[in-house]
Amino acid sequence: MRSSFLSLPALVASVLAAPTTHPTVYLAGDSTMAPGGGGSGTQGWGEYLQYSLSIPVVDSAIAGRSARSYTREGRFDAIVSKVKVGDFVIIEFGHNDGGSVTPTDNGRSDCAGTGTETCATTYDGVAETVLTFPAYIEKAMNSITAKGAHPIVSSQTPNNPFETGTYLYSAPRFVEYAQLVSNVTKLPYIQHFEQVDAFYETRGATTVNACYPNDHTHTAAECAALVAQAFIRGVVCSDATRLQRHVVNSTASIEGSCI
Ligand SMILES: *[C@@H]1O[C@H](CO)[C@@H](O)[C@H](O)[C@H]1NC(C)=O
Ligand SMILES: *[C@@H]1O[C@H](CO)[C@@H](O)[C@H](O)[C@H]1NC(C)=O
Repeated sequence: MRSSFLSLPALVASVLAAPTTHPTVYLAGDSTMAPGGGGSGTQGWGEYLQYSLSIPVVDSAIAGRSARSYTREGRFDAIVSKVKVGDFVIIEFGHNDGGSVTPTDNGRSDCAGTGTETCATTYDGVAETVLTFPAYIEKAMNSITAKGAHPIVSSQTPNNPFETGTYLYSAPRFVEYAQLVSNVTKLPYIQHFEQVDAFYETRGATTVNACYPNDHTHTAAECAALVAQAFIRGVVCSDATRLQRHVVNSTASIEGSCI
């Protein structure tokens, strides 16, 4: 009689490949997401994401990083080496990615363009081939997918849209680039920039200006919590269905609507 049980090697293989029942969410980003934010009493939104999810969050965002420097410093590689099947990695860059590549740049500027363009340069005495923003993100996402984990690309947070006194929606090019990566890879994209701006527009200048005690980029703690909630609004409105399952809040209880 033929056994309906898996052979031992097949059983071992299926157990090894099975998604972990308790996945972890890793965060890759800059000061707007990082523990301690940009310093001086500010906080990164990544520190508040845990309150909306039933699974642990590891905030590996670091102040001052861009897609380029996070890559060069081996920080994506460090996450890739840690992820297990079924884990999530949320990638959000843009604030430090601008400028153009020169031998005297700060090691953060990406090569101009959205494709396979490269810029040959030297940083800190070492020759470096700099990629475009989408190329860095796509490379990281593909390495994460290869480990059986789920990368999610998110648009960066906005700077204070009330900076000039009246509400101004002004998305830097990295917002579009993040969406472009998602279009190309067919991996989920979170409209974080758009959702945070929508939350801010509802609140108005006085409240939003108070979110930015030092500059137009780094949020006070209460506002980091708000930026995290806007991210969750983006998650439930996105095609990141695997992550949606771990949101503790009912969709009806989450502020805002889909954009
Ligand atoms: C990505 O795809 C969406 C849906 O087709 C489209 O509206 C959007 O313009 C595309 N974005 C980019 C940056 O290519
Ligand atoms: C979900 O609920 C928790 C606990 O009440 C709260 O801290 C968090 O901000 C909520 N998230 C959203 C997106 O509303």
